[in-house]
Amino acid sequence: MAKTFFITTAIDYTNSAPHIGHAYEKILADVIARYHRLKGENVFFLTGVDQHGQKVQQSAEREGVPPEQFVAGVTEQFIALWDKLDVRYDAWAATTDPLHRKCVQGMLQRLFDEGKIYKDKQVGFYSVRQEQFLTDKDRNEAGEFGPEWGEVEQREEENYYFKLSEHKEWLLNFLRSHPTFVSPSFRQTELINAVEKLSGDLCISRPKSRLSWGIELPFDRDYVNYVWFDALTNYISFIGYDPSRSSISDQSSTFRDNWPALHVIGKDIMIPAHGIYWPIMLHALGFPDDQMPTLLVHGWWNISGAKMSKSLGNVVDPDVLIEKYGADALRYYLMSDIVTGKDADFSKERLIERYNANLANSLGNLLNRSLNMIWKYRGGKLSSRRVEDKRIRECELLVLTEIHGYKEAFEGGAPKYPTLEPHSVDSAVHHVLVVSFHANRLVEVTAPWKLATQKSEQEVLDSVLYYLAESLRIIATLVSSVLPEAAHGIFDQLNWKMELSGKEERFRLEDATWGGLPDGHVVGKPVPLFPRIETK
Ligand code: MSP
Repeated sequence: MAKTFFITTAIDYTNSAPHIGHAYEKILADVIARYHRLKGENVFFLTGVDQHGQKVQQSAEREGVPPEQFVAGVTEQFIALWDKLDVRYDAWAATTDPLHRKCVQGMLQRLFDEGKIYKDKQVGFYSVRQEQFLTDKDRNEAGEFGPEWGEVEQREEENYYFKLSEHKEWLLNFLRSHPTFVSPSFRQTELINAVEKLSGDLCISRPKSRLSWGIELPFDRDYVNYVWFDALTNYISFIGYDPSRSSISDQSSTFRDNWPALHVIGKDIMIPAHGIYWPIMLHALGFPDDQMPTLLVHGWWNISGAKMSKSLGNVVDPDVLIEKYGADALRYYLMSDIVTGKDADFSKERLIERYNANLANSLGNLLNRSLNMIWKYRGGKLSSRRVEDKRIRECELLVLTEIHGYKEAFEGGAPKYPTLEPHSVDSAVHHVLVVSFHANRLVEVTAPWKLATQKSEQEVLDSVLYYLAESLRIIATLVSSVLPEAAHGIFDQLNWKMELSGKEERFRLEDATWGGLPDGHVVGKPVPLFPRIETK
């Protein structure tokens, strides 16, 4: 059986409501997953929620509800949002799932039995208000722990530690010999620098007296796991990893067909969680180098250069935007106005501007005018006869270049052009728009309304109209990864593959080539697809 393209996102914290940053990551992964489905690959897209931990316990206490009830409410908000945004995942990872708990505990037990986890005493400064040990990094400029920490006392606590640092050399060698572990590549350089400075082991527990909302350590019931072992393990627990078997070849076929994954994550959780803890955990569990995942690390959406945060009151609520402008407008904006890997500033004005310019004026207008002309001059019927017209042929060739560019944007440039990183979704969107641009330009240069009045130009007119319909068919196929709703809308209006209406297999990348619509095909009637967003 063919290998599955396995893609995951970070699992979102359930201590507060979803915001635009969560939406960005989910859509990004959804678009990449849809691209691979478009290619005809098996795809498995896993996402979910991170439900345990201190912050959740505190938020639940503040609201006076049990943590189970609190996370159930927030989880529902995430699920409803992914539904509205057309994010199509294949499995849902919720860390309170008993299957997940069993896997985490099995893994911890094995590492403990193999001597890779040990107990040790920690002595240090402890903030009672924030319920955490403090380090020198938490001191203010005057070298003191500021009032935000409340009462700070000396404490002694016993905890469990995972032997992280003994794998430092392995990780450095792995990163140096696997330069595509992280994309974009500048992030891999950041990671190597961080690993070079790595020292010390990883504390993986909290006494229950301090934190009860977590997965119990199987070898000491007075402790729960904290923090990353639980969350990161979702990537393997939900595809059936069996922690009692150390060799990958002894894992189930479901596991082997899916793993390894492409993890789509934000830049804040690469160091240390996904770039250091996770590969080391997998290595300690016996995963060989060729079974390591890869990371796609995206940047952040900021507000006027500042981080979005509840305390600054600048958090952008995706629900409000969907309500006002629609899911397509939001998907389009979030995918096209940020360079994958870099940060961008979120702006409602930009969202409207880009929607109106690219979707309403360019693509929407192309669909409308093309179908109108096909009806007006040919009663809706296409003729696939080709005439040798330089203007049309030139446009056809340009479109082939854009299709090539679209594929390269997802897959990365040929080794000759290493500057083009894989998963450059913004660039893929751009290539689709350029196809629409070429088609609109052909309308301007050939002026079908003039051709219609000249007897000798009837074949050229046929050819131009056929080119327009074909461009729209190709655009719909390519754009289906980013705007699935709109892609169906275009196919519906072209009256194309109606028996598959609403289904994903309606779109196949191999059909994105000239000549798909048969001679005599009758198109549908135009309906505005992207109504302009009017502003006062
Ligand atoms: N629960 C952890 C991840 C565990 S993965 C094993 C977590 N959750 S989170 O809710 O804080 O963040 C989820 C994802 O959203 C992260 O990848 C994070 O980088 C991303 N984003 C959070 N804010 C963001 C922006 N403002 N912009 C873009 N992405 C952002 O971390």
